[in-house]
Amino acid sequence: MKKSLNDEVEIILKKIKEIGINLQKVIYNIPSDINENTKIINPTGDITFNIDLIAQKEITTKMSQIPQIAAIISEEELKPIILNKKGKYILTIDPIDGSSNVEYNGSCGTIFSLYKRKSQKDQELSDKDYLQKGKDQIFAGYIFYGSSLVLVYAIEKNMEIFQYNYEKKMFIKIHENFKIKNNLKYYCINEGYSNHFNDKVKNLLQNFKKENISLRYSGALIADIHRILISGGIFLYPSTTNKQEGKLRLMFENNPLAYIMKAAGGIATDGNIDVLEISPKSLHQTTPIFIGSNISQKYNL
Ligand code: F6P
Repeated sequence: MKKSLNDEVEIILKKIKEIGINLQKVIYNIPSDINENTKIINPTGDITFNIDLIAQKEITTKMSQIPQIAAIISEEELKPIILNKKGKYILTIDPIDGSSNVEYNGSCGTIFSLYKRKSQKDQELSDKDYLQKGKDQIFAGYIFYGSSLVLVYAIEKNMEIFQYNYEKKMFIKIHENFKIKNNLKYYCINEGYSNHFNDKVKNLLQNFKKENISLRYSGALIADIHRILISGGIFLYPSTTNKQEGKLRLMFENNPLAYIMKAAGGIATDGNIDVLEISPKSLHQTTPIFIGSNISQKYNL
């Protein structure tokens, strides 16, 4: 019998849950060399840690068991990893986001999203399959390795949050159809770079300060985004004078998180347009991002 999209997404989600449980064990039972810098620089210039490579291997191995996955594009790999040329879906992954935090016992996450290939099954996979707009995602989510193990994902306008229960050994749904609050409880930004922000961002930060809004910044995107989702607020990684296109990767970080945030009723813009409307030009392209509660009108975002 032909499987519906939801059946197929369910199969992929089941694997993602297994990946989360396995990777959390790796992170929590940290071997002494886990934080070692591999001396490899990833395609966007970040240092690759052993944990990034372990996670990438775990995800590729698990996903290669699903024939519907045609290819994986990973933040850690320059080129797509082809799994099944006749497969139907392209999975994007950031195997461990915030891996540099593991050294300090900080939080980190795994980010993923799914696209349907655009080419026919008997055609070669090409950029038209890999470089799709964020609005073409069919589902996206993240695993958050924090003080508990959390899985968040969105399919269309429904965003759900699960927490791993160690007694039952399974993920339990804790929120369905979750919606972000429209209050600005926190803002998250690396203010150490403030001399390099443009006037619009500097003014925005001045306004936040006048209103006594609390600043939080962990250096791990998923930890900050999760805080914003749960309590309301805004995460900003704007352009700086030395990084005009920001730091965060469109395909691996900004698009999946924008898809989730918008499903939860929030916003995600690069400062000019909706992140989900950006036409990607390359796999490892970065963009500025302002993402969180819908404060566009009040602050002219
Ligand atoms: O993209 C990797 C990452 O570590 C994110 O998890 C985090 O939000 C960001 O970079 C931190 O960058 P910076 O150290 O420039 O503030």
